Amino acid sequence: MPIRLDERLTLIASLVDYGKVADVGCDHGKLAYYLVSTDRASSVIATDVSAPSLQKAKELALENGVMDVMNTRLGDGLEPLVSREVDTVVIAGLGGDVISGILEKAREDKKEFAHFILSPNTHAEKVRAEIARCGHKITFDDMLVVAGKTYTVFKTEESEEALDKNQIRYGKFFKTSESFKAWIEKEIAEKKNILSKNYSEDLSRKVKDLEDIKSTLE
Ligand SMILES: C[S@@+](CC[C@H](N)C(=O)[O-])C[C@H]1O[C@@H](n2cnc3c(N)ncnc32)[C@H](O)[C@@H]1O
Repeated sequence: MPIRLDERLTLIASLVDYGKVADVGCDHGKLAYYLVSTDRASSVIATDVSAPSLQKAKELALENGVMDVMNTRLGDGLEPLVSREVDTVVIAGLGGDVISGILEKAREDKKEFAHFILSPNTHAEKVRAEIARCGHKITFDDMLVVAGKTYTVFKTEESEEALDKNQIRYGKFFKTSESFKAWIEKEIAEKKNILSKNYSEDLSRKVKDLEDIKSTLE
C-alpha cells in the first residue's frame, strides 16, 4: 500500500541517506513504513515507549508484509538499540526536553550513531545544545510551520563544533534562513501589536532584542 506523509514527515524522510534507520517514538509507524516501502532505507527499527502506539506500527508492517525490514521494539528512548546498530536515528514529534533527555542518556550510556535526524516541537535550543555535547555537528537546521505549529528539523553527523549563543537559540543557519526571517518578522509584529494595546517594559525589551537579531540577518 503506498503511503503519503505530511509535509513535516516528508522533509524528515528526504534527509535519510539510505542504510539502517531507527525511528524512535514511531507511534503510527508511517515514517518507518514509508522509508522501507520506497527503498529510502535498507531496514528500520521502529520503537516506542507506549505498547499501544507500537502496536499500530506493528500492524502497519504486518498488513503490508514488510516485517523482514521493519522491526518493532518497545522501550524508552535509545534503550532498545545498541551502539551503532543503525546508521541514522530519527526522533520526531516529541518535545525538545524529551529529545535532549534521550540524547543525554545515550551519551551517558556511551551509545553512538553516525547521524541523528531530530524534530522537536518545542525547545529546539535544548536539542541544539545537547547535539554539540554528543560530539555531533548540525548539517541541516530549519523551521517548518504546519497548521500554526512550529517544528524544527535537524540533521547531524559526527564531528565537533561550537555554536554561539544566537545559533543555539535561533538556529545554526538563522542568518541566512528564509523561514527564520519569516518567523522573526511575525514574532515582532505580534509582540508590537500586544505592546500597542498593553505596554510592558519586559515585552518592549524582547521586541528590541528581536529587532537587533533581525538587523544581523543576511
Ligand atoms: C506525537 S508522537 C510522534 C510520532 C512520530 N514520530 C511523528 O513524528 O509523527 C510521539 C510518540 O513518541 C512516543 N514517546 C514519547 N516519549 C518517548 C520516549 N521517551 N521514548 C520512546 N518513545 C516515546 C509516544 O508514545 C508517541 O507515540
